[in-house]
Amino acid sequence: MNDLLPAQAARYRRLVECVAGVLARYGYSELRTPVLERTELFVRTIGEVTDIVEKEMYTFRDELNGESLTLRPEGTAACVRAAIEHNMLYGTPQRLWYEGPMFRHERPQKGRYRQFHQVGCEAIGFAGPDIDAEQIVLCARLWRELGLQDVSLEINSLGDAATRAAHRERLVAYFEQHRELLDEDALRRLHANPLRILDTKNPAMQQMVAEAPKLVDMLDAESAAHFDGVRERLADAGVACTLNPRLVRGLDYYNRTVFEWVTTRLGAQGTICAGGRYDGLVEQLGGRAAPACGFAMGLERILALIDDGDALGGLQPPAAYIVHQGEPAARFAVEVAEGLRDLGHAVVVHGGGGKFAAQMKRADASGAQYALIVGEAEVAARKVGVKPLRVAGEQQMLAPDAVAALLSGHC
Ligand code: HAM
Repeated sequence: MNDLLPAQAARYRRLVECVAGVLARYGYSELRTPVLERTELFVRTIGEVTDIVEKEMYTFRDELNGESLTLRPEGTAACVRAAIEHNMLYGTPQRLWYEGPMFRHERPQKGRYRQFHQVGCEAIGFAGPDIDAEQIVLCARLWRELGLQDVSLEINSLGDAATRAAHRERLVAYFEQHRELLDEDALRRLHANPLRILDTKNPAMQQMVAEAPKLVDMLDAESAAHFDGVRERLADAGVACTLNPRLVRGLDYYNRTVFEWVTTRLGAQGTICAGGRYDGLVEQLGGRAAPACGFAMGLERILALIDDGDALGGLQPPAAYIVHQGEPAARFAVEVAEGLRDLGHAVVVHGGGGKFAAQMKRADASGAQYALIVGEAEVAARKVGVKPLRVAGEQQMLAPDAVAALLSGHC
């Protein structure tokens, strides 16, 4: 879990603003839900035999009423819960987005944290392939606007529940036939979660796994048509994608389209954004059946991809730093600062006293464009001394209005 120091926090904020701006252009509205939910919500939606539920959740008992609560490991379940609870889904499809910390007790490494942050978005009440494609195109636009390079799209279809059950059976039978090649991990997963064997990193199993029956070859007619529809629309939009038949996702609620945006520039944790369709989840949580589709992106990973000195920039220095000596000057400094702030300028008033020379050092270190200097003479004249800090220039005496005009020229 990380602290975000001021310069990092500023980049984080600007990234969220940028993502929110793109989402707004596609008609998404923000939803904020609590970081805590009943444990049961995640067990039911993400799935009992998933890594997240089996070993990664921060779960504790509320001492006051004995309820089991969990720090949210992801945002989809809570978003759907809230939409149902607040009757948002009656007759109106919803495009919603959220941002905030998620918690998973994973083994930390570069790009993988126990508290990390996502922006996620969920379109609830939309059945057609147009919405899957729209979300993917939205992501592509965002990567363009952020200047991200080396990001590519992998896509797959998981079909419907019957297809997945049939595929699972064929997969188990296939792995049984090749039992002598399975390692310990794979043997353990063989019946509990055979799909995860497809994720194996074991080189000795690669070829056998590559030849395993593929779900995408077994799709029911409707799912196949839906998948074609998604890919046609992506082609229309000029978004390239690679079919990855082994893309299965680690959460149970998906059906049909699943996708991941991946980069080779972040080492092992190369997935920056992932999602897909989850047509059964709303009904499963007690709402009237509504098809849905969504994705979430890992903000730490995206920030790591954006180089320093980039579009997000660092800290914004103040426009002016006011140094002052003596009680009347301190009060006049505040008056001037408040007037400038009324006009939208960032102005820091020196705090803690000290000699002018020491105060000027602080003014310089703040990164401000100007030092505003207030002493007895300035108070008497109701003017301030103005000294440029970033370019050569003489100090001059100006009335507050003239200072405001000068700062505006620098905005
Ligand atoms: P997810 O694949 O579990 O999906 O997470 C989405 C993204 O969050 C990942 O691609 C990654 O960028 C980031 N992420 C996940 N775990 C970590 C971690 N420990 N440290 C840093 N970043 C991480 C979901 O969460 C689904 N709710 C997405 C979704 C929304 N599907 C439909 N709607």
